[in-house]
Amino acid sequence: MRDLLYVFLFVLVSTPAAMADGQIEAEYRQSVMKSIGGHMSSMVTILKNQVHIQDLSLHAQGIAALADVAPKVFPEGSDIKKSRALPDIWEDRAAFDEAMNRFVSAAKEMPGAAASGEMSQIGPALSKLGKTCKGCHDNYKSE
Ligand code: HEC
Repeated sequence: MRDLLYVFLFVLVSTPAAMADGQIEAEYRQSVMKSIGGHMSSMVTILKNQVHIQDLSLHAQGIAALADVAPKVFPEGSDIKKSRALPDIWEDRAAFDEAMNRFVSAAKEMPGAAASGEMSQIGPALSKLGKTCKGCHDNYKSE
């Protein structure tokens, strides 16, 4: 663990801060998306099977926190070969940002719904959130 920290610090001091590496940006984006996906599927598993209910709020908060990160992980130059992000993202950024904003606002509603403990609030909030994933993936992510 400590070795890893040293490696990290070494990389940090030896890399010019301004260098925007598309490869790294895309890798980070994919990790962020996986984290979002992890919280999402955790919530679905919890609700479908009624297990670990006490963790629902944690995942709702996790996804809401990641909603602050997601808009920043699509910088110019990060549409590299190993990415499934489609060029349309950067060709019509305004339309993409709208899809992103729909996700952000749905994600921000999730913690409140989870905290209510009411399925009548949780269900619709989760389905609204799920639609925003699909809404973006359908247009901006290749298979
Ligand atoms: C505004 C657009 C947008 C929204 C909203 C969005 N995604 Fe994504 N997602 C993408 C794009 C683009 C990729 C492909 C990224 C890449 O390959 O560089 C992606 C990739 C992913 C991946 C694959 C990551 C990998 O590389 O293994 C998962 C999982 C994922 N998204 C889950 C979700 C979930 C769950 C939601 C909703 C809660 C969501 N996404 C919302 C655009 C979006």
